[in-house]
Amino acid sequence: MSTLSTSLPGGTWTLGDLTVTRFGYGTMQLAGPGVMGPPADHDSALAVLREVIDLGITHIDTADAYGPRVTNQLIREALHPYPESLHIVTKVGAIRDEQGGWPPARKPEDLRRAVHENLEALGLEVLDLVNLRLGDARGPRPGSLAEPFEALAELQQQGLIRHLGVSNATPEQVAEAQAIAPIVCVQNMYNLAYRQDDALIDELAEEGIAYVPFFPLGGFSPLQSSALSAIAARLDATPMSVALAWLLQRSPNILLIPGTSSVAHLRENVAGAGLSLSDEELTELDKIGH
Ligand SMILES: NC(=O)c1ccc[n+]([C@@H]2O[C@H](COP(=O)([O-])OP(=O)(O)OC[C@H]3O[C@@H](n4cnc5c(N)ncnc54)[C@H](OP(=O)(O)O)[C@@H]3O)[C@@H](O)[C@H]2O)c1
Repeated sequence: MSTLSTSLPGGTWTLGDLTVTRFGYGTMQLAGPGVMGPPADHDSALAVLREVIDLGITHIDTADAYGPRVTNQLIREALHPYPESLHIVTKVGAIRDEQGGWPPARKPEDLRRAVHENLEALGLEVLDLVNLRLGDARGPRPGSLAEPFEALAELQQQGLIRHLGVSNATPEQVAEAQAIAPIVCVQNMYNLAYRQDDALIDELAEEGIAYVPFFPLGGFSPLQSSALSAIAARLDATPMSVALAWLLQRSPNILLIPGTSSVAHLRENVAGAGLSLSDEELTELDKIGH
């Protein structure tokens, strides 16, 4: 197992046998508008990815559907050959249509193709962690994941994937996946104002499984709350900093993958996530999502 010392807020977490910084980075904001096409500024996108490494971040979240194929190619252009400590997490199970929609693609042959496309785009022989993305743009949807998850477990047995996870999943689907093959993370929507998975996070923490919230800053509609703004003003911090610090303090198994297309925002987010929130502030913040 690799060891990693970091001065990043939150320290490290171990995904299976892979040690990552709890402060990670999500690439979705690097693609063009609507997560379609190339970035407005190619060089700035590469600069953000290089800054991720310079800051000591060792967890990058991506998907071949971003662009599509745009963010994986940017990662490869900016960072290949990759530092040994870097772990790139991707997801399969959705593709893009011409209108920018995210139709599911979860037949075993779709997943095999997606895994090979990710390997090729990223220039890797093995993918460190692949999440099966379930549900749809509205969120998780009930239903069995057996067929697609068994297909991914087979690709893992063939040596193409180190670890598996699920995304946009219901608690029942998380349990169903675990009965098929071990998972090391669940990636679902969660933030200060959207607390659907509170119970799931605590259960996963007891099992040593990571919970990776997507839209930690609210995603396409940034978090807005007068209570959050008031606490941030009192702490002389930004609402974004408070939202990230709150997630790190919420549970030790929470890993951050905030997205940004800006080097300045990336630096701000790293600095801000280290904010120490008192019990009183945590209680006040807890009320926002309840
Ligand atoms: N599994 C799934 O289905 C799924 C779905 C969505 C996302 N994801 C993953 O989750 C990651 C995070 O989600 P996300 O990027 O959509 O949303 P997010 O992290 O909640 O928020 C990103 C937004 O916040 C802005 N932002 C970031 N830092 C800021 C700062 N310091 N000040 C002001 N604005 C700031 C960004 O704009 P700027 O670019 O201007 O900084 C961007 O508009 C994605 O990158 C992706 O890897 C997964």
